[in-house]
Amino acid sequence: MSSSSSSFSLLFVAIFLVSFSQTTLSLSSKYFLTSHHDDDENIINPKKFPIKMAEKLIRQLNLFPKHDINIVSSLESNYEEEKRLFEKKLDLSYIGDSGSTLQDFGHHAGYFPLVHTKAARMFYFFFESRSNKNDPVVIWLTGGPGCSSELALFFENGPFQLSDNMSLVWNDFGWDKVSNLIYVDQPTGTGFSYTTDESDIRHNETGVSNDLYDFLQAFFKAHPEYAQNDFYITGESYAGHYIPAFASRVHQGNKDKEGIYINLKGFAIGNGLTNPEIQYKAYTDYALDMKLINQTDYDNINKLYPNCQQQIKLCGNGREDACLKGFRDCTSIFDSIMDIVGNVNYYDIRKTCEGSLCYDFSRMETYLNDGQVKKALGVPSDIDFVSCSSSVYRAMQADWMKNLEVGIPQLLEDGINLLVYAGEYDLICNWLGNLNWVYAVEWSGQNGFGAAPSVSFTVDGEDKGVLKKYGPLTFLKVRDAGHMVPMDQPKAALEMLQRWIRGELS
Ligand SMILES: *[C@@H]1O[C@H](CO)[C@@H](O)[C@H](O)[C@H]1NC(C)=O
Ligand SMILES: *[C@@H]1O[C@H](CO)[C@@H](O)[C@H](O)[C@H]1NC(C)=O
Ligand SMILES: *[C@@H]1O[C@H](CO)[C@@H](O)[C@H](O)[C@H]1NC(C)=O
Repeated sequence: MSSSSSSFSLLFVAIFLVSFSQTTLSLSSKYFLTSHHDDDENIINPKKFPIKMAEKLIRQLNLFPKHDINIVSSLESNYEEEKRLFEKKLDLSYIGDSGSTLQDFGHHAGYFPLVHTKAARMFYFFFESRSNKNDPVVIWLTGGPGCSSELALFFENGPFQLSDNMSLVWNDFGWDKVSNLIYVDQPTGTGFSYTTDESDIRHNETGVSNDLYDFLQAFFKAHPEYAQNDFYITGESYAGHYIPAFASRVHQGNKDKEGIYINLKGFAIGNGLTNPEIQYKAYTDYALDMKLINQTDYDNINKLYPNCQQQIKLCGNGREDACLKGFRDCTSIFDSIMDIVGNVNYYDIRKTCEGSLCYDFSRMETYLNDGQVKKALGVPSDIDFVSCSSSVYRAMQADWMKNLEVGIPQLLEDGINLLVYAGEYDLICNWLGNLNWVYAVEWSGQNGFGAAPSVSFTVDGEDKGVLKKYGPLTFLKVRDAGHMVPMDQPKAALEMLQRWIRGELS
């Protein structure tokens, strides 16, 4: 990590929104393989390029990926010749009771080659439902950009959790209790996903969503018995960018009769970044409301916004240079708030970071880099697990300020359901910014949504949040949760998913 990350200000964690502060970086793909000049930049201008910022921030998650990105020059194994899918039925041992009502259900892991790439292979886990094979297929995407979805698998909503002593313990609130659940490592270079050709590294949502579409086609080709099931896209944080792009891509593919028809019923964004113009404006409002800053701070920091907004608008008009400049200008708003609040955990403002650590996800890296585990997962021995890739992150920098809300009206008009949910104590992708962009979506139900009542979301008689719904659009503010809702409120999160996919979240 150390040599390659220039200045993550990240927020990696599960969110994996990472916030950067730095000036222009070359976006040429060459950059990704030769990252040693970062240190020079630090020396030239230590203020602009805080020394080892990335290292510090990733350490907050207690993550230390050995490599920065999975681009390999060649593989020792004969994997290269393996053009078809590779999937293994998992045989791992678990502690506890699965609570399954089925005799037999499968856990799988594997790789699909992406047909429109030079050499990319996308790694995934697939967990058949513990309840019913006819349950919907749900795919989960973790953000970053560049963080592995295994963070969610092991610490949020997977079938099992990774305990301190490295054993897998059944999770009573795994989302596989109500769905056939897929976790995928993407964009290419993240997690166990890899390529031998750097032109496969993605820079925008066109590339990301095409790869995901190809992944899904390969998946349903390999598992045709699930192709008729309802299909939902879910995820968190920077996936607020991926998810709408992917949903639109699937919807378009269906309309164009491009491949296997995918029964897309909805998409859900958890504490996401979707509409930067609105969400960057909301930082100071949220921080003031939560008493993280005072009125004087508020007025001062707000002066940074017009510049940020202008760049975002230019970025939206296709000016790539403005996208990069906006990234820097807008990040200064967030950084200014963090300068005031100190070591508050920006994923959960109720917490502070102890020492340099805000979370400890390190055992995931230890576990997944174990030779036996990799073998069980069908991962080539020469591929290391990249928990959060600073190179994938950097490659997506010009994507950050793009507004991914633009495709949503069409999806809503066509009856595809959207759930936007947010834990109330997350600063980085706070609920206020999310609610504001949801209000601003221009569709036929905009007034109806605005006028819809706010009702309590209760689980077992307990108040777990506030809900607003109109037609296919639902917003849920989750109580007592930070950025990672399924980690903080596992039972409420499972209830949310279950009611939503059954049309009972209202
Ligand atoms: C490991 O941790 C799990 C969950 O905390 C516990 O049930 C199990 O007994 C532990 N195993 C060992 C060998 O200590
Ligand atoms: C997305 O990135 C690719 C390069 O990876 C580029 O060719 C393409 O023009 C970009 N598309 C958009 C819409 O920016
Ligand atoms: C507001 O907070 C700043 C520190 O962030 C402090 O210097 C200033 O005195 C405070 N102003 C008021 C009016 O409390």
